Amino acid sequence: MVVFRFKLTRSVKAVLMIALLCYLSIVLVGIAAIMQKPTFRRTVNNGNFPATGRPAALVGLKHTDSCSTSSGNKTEEQKTAKPKTAPCPKTIASLTKYSKWFRERYQPGIKLFLDRDDTKHYDSLSASVLPFGFKKQNLTVMSQILQHKDFANPPVHGLAGRQSCIRCAVVGCGGILNGSGAGKEIDGHDYVFRVNKALTSGRFANDVGKRTTFYTFYPESQHLNDVEDKNVLAFFTMFKAYDADYALNMMNGEKPPKYLKKGKKYGVRTPVVTPTRVKFVHPNFFFYVFKTFLDSKAYRPTTGALVVFLALHICDEVTIYGFGYDPRFTMHYYDTKFVVHTRASTGVHDVDNERKLWHKLHEEGAIKLFQRDM
Ligand SMILES: *[C@@H]1O[C@H](CO)[C@@H](O)[C@H](O)[C@H]1NC(C)=O
Ligand SMILES: *[C@@H]1O[C@H](CO)[C@@H](O)[C@H](O)[C@H]1NC(C)=O
Ligand SMILES: *[C@@H]1O[C@H](CO)[C@@H](O)[C@H](O)[C@H]1NC(C)=O
Repeated sequence: MVVFRFKLTRSVKAVLMIALLCYLSIVLVGIAAIMQKPTFRRTVNNGNFPATGRPAALVGLKHTDSCSTSSGNKTEEQKTAKPKTAPCPKTIASLTKYSKWFRERYQPGIKLFLDRDDTKHYDSLSASVLPFGFKKQNLTVMSQILQHKDFANPPVHGLAGRQSCIRCAVVGCGGILNGSGAGKEIDGHDYVFRVNKALTSGRFANDVGKRTTFYTFYPESQHLNDVEDKNVLAFFTMFKAYDADYALNMMNGEKPPKYLKKGKKYGVRTPVVTPTRVKFVHPNFFFYVFKTFLDSKAYRPTTGALVVFLALHICDEVTIYGFGYDPRFTMHYYDTKFVVHTRASTGVHDVDNERKLWHKLHEEGAIKLFQRDM
């Protein structure tokens, strides 16, 4: 009896001890969880893209002054966007945890679009000429654009704010899309980015889809008439001095000025655009893409390259279609010409460098590059 009671007491003690240890460990785990900062946190930041806690090193980017959010004042986009709480398991920004190459380049805080606030930053914006800055530009014209009554600069994610796990398709003009039947897949994304003449009217819908969320253009490449979504947000890129004059006329609903090239005057099509739905790509963003990802090769990035990087800062997942200058296909899905893809064939762009970049981004897991057999 005595022995039994002794044993019972010991086992009760043991049980109590175990219970106490369990309790203590739960408390400790709890405290640890509270103290530990989340390794990946979603914040709303300039263009409402996700940001990591880890700052990305910027290689060779000079004028970052107006890119940061350090001025206590929020941009118009930040004011209207609401942070989302639902986490996305894997995002482009979270790739910085796994890829050194990407971490050293990707700058989540970069400003994507110009806003009224930029009229205060002409000093820092005037280090380079367009597309990288406003040097030699008529700053009165720039102010007339940015302070225009119709420059509403709507947030990219709409008034409802950023949703989580945004899947995006960026559609280039590569002949690889001809006969691909990828249209439904493209339209199935949350956002569809299109550029220049890479549009959908009629017989191409089956291969390239119909929807357009964001359309990016410059004066000579403007094909807004062929954009089927009337709610599209138009991203205007300024590559040269003329483009600023064009932009002001566009905001005023006027015909574009004549384009002077080598002493000759050229007419430019009037954009069919709602001025309140226009946004202007920030010169610092051009510079960042060029310096950081294209290693300053060629004279400037293609509009397509620029748009892929806009998508990398707006979305959680990006698939690019019709990129890569695959020599097995025609130059464009909308024409029948086979062209040897060289710098000469594309004007001022370094085609090989861009092709390598798409494959690199694909390998690193930042984008999915649409590829197919013949
Ligand atoms: C923020 O905006 C207010 C009012 O427009 C201005 O007075 C202030 O200087 C701004 N602050 C910064 C840090 O830009
Ligand atoms: C700059 O633009 C304004 C407004 O269009 C114009 O009045 C002015 O003459 C221009 N200045 C120069 C130096 O071209
Ligand atoms: C697309 O591919 C088909 C079949 O290979 C070809 O006949 C046609 O010329 C190509 N281009 C266009 C614009 O249809």
